[in-house]
Amino acid sequence: MFDSQRSSIELIHGDCLEEMKKIPNRSIDAIVTDPPYGLAFRGEDWDGKIPKWIEEARRIAKFVVFTTAPTTLWDYPRPDWVGCWYREASNSRSQLKGGFNHWSPIVFYGKRKFWVDSKKLHAIQHAYPKGFPHPSPKPIALIEWLVENSADEGATILDPFMGSGTTGVACKNLNRNFIGIELDKDYFEIAKQRIYDTV
Ligand SMILES: C[S@@+](CC[C@H](N)C(=O)[O-])C[C@H]1O[C@@H](n2cnc3c(N)ncnc32)[C@H](O)[C@@H]1O
Repeated sequence: MFDSQRSSIELIHGDCLEEMKKIPNRSIDAIVTDPPYGLAFRGEDWDGKIPKWIEEARRIAKFVVFTTAPTTLWDYPRPDWVGCWYREASNSRSQLKGGFNHWSPIVFYGKRKFWVDSKKLHAIQHAYPKGFPHPSPKPIALIEWLVENSADEGATILDPFMGSGTTGVACKNLNRNFIGIELDKDYFEIAKQRIYDTV
């Protein structure tokens, strides 16, 4: 359960490229995020290109971990490690039009040790209800695994591409402090509701 004595939450409606400039060097324990893949997922404008965020993220955080697609790994500087998450029951698409293939890369910058560098999810853990108001929410089981391994209880985790707030919910569940940034006002409101409603 969330312990409000030990954890804090700060949600920012804004552009993370601007907001991260205000954060001092290495003051964030970990960034756990799911940035735009630049693949125009389901025609979404915000997914049209990959923002230039990674250098600023590495400046402010001791550890950075994020999900991306197999083809977009090469849009980033050489990482310290690459893991993956996978799900047997997903569609098998090796290329072309959207959907999840059987595995996706997880990119690591920084020296924190993940004893296991892959996460298997069952279909039920991957699913969100039909009509969920964000087009690409990540499974809570995946994000909880990343949060738990990226920083200890009481640490501060930032998600600069918060979307519907999955990382915030995971941080609450696991007693980490959370800072979330989201550009889109509607998604920001969804995240706010999700994170505060799960108290
Ligand atoms: C892949 S989604 C994140 C989904 C999230 N992991 C979840 O579970 O809901 C990426 C999000 O980044 C947001 N975004 C794109 N560019 C941004 C920027 N410059 N600053 C802040 N948020 C941005 C988009 O609006 C979108 O909601």
